[in-house]
Amino acid sequence: MAEAVIFVGLQGSGKTTYFTKHFADTHAHASRDVQQTPEREEAFVRESLCSGRSFVLDDTNATRAVRAQYIRAAKAAGFYVIAYFFDTPVRTAIGRNNHRKDKKPIPVPAILRTAKRLEPPSLEEGIDEIRTIAAEIKDPTES
Ligand SMILES: Nc1ncnc2c1ncn2[C@@H]1O[C@H](COP(=O)(O)OP(=O)(O)O)[C@@H](O)[C@H]1O
Ligand SMILES: [Mg+2]
Repeated sequence: MAEAVIFVGLQGSGKTTYFTKHFADTHAHASRDVQQTPEREEAFVRESLCSGRSFVLDDTNATRAVRAQYIRAAKAAGFYVIAYFFDTPVRTAIGRNNHRKDKKPIPVPAILRTAKRLEPPSLEEGIDEIRTIAAEIKDPTES
């Protein structure tokens, strides 16, 4: 069964790194950073749904409202919908973001705004399965 994997997490929470490590060989990569415009990204998702190709939606997808359209379309196309919740503390996300090399760091206020709006995924949204990716906790005595 084709899968629609919806990432949910702050900017800097580790989503794209996780995609590269765990999904790049098996799933198409839908992301604002890849397709560049909302229109092109939506077209890419639509094509994936039409052709039955598994894909990951690698954006913040912070609110239920944003996720709802994708969940509805994916279920209508017969996909299995999995949400990955990147449960990374906002401090950690900001710290990682400030050191990122793949693109310019996202302004901190934008990350704080996302943190304020963030609604963790719930099965009530019609998602088939939810997986939570916890940020590794670093022992403060190490370094
Ligand atoms: N599990 C992790 N532990 C430490 N650093 C990480 C981890 N995952 C990602 N990073 C680093 O954090 C920064 C942001 O990661 P990225 O995957 O681009 O986040 P996102 O796609 O959610 O914005 C990158 O510099 C990346 O190397
Ligand atoms: Mg990313």
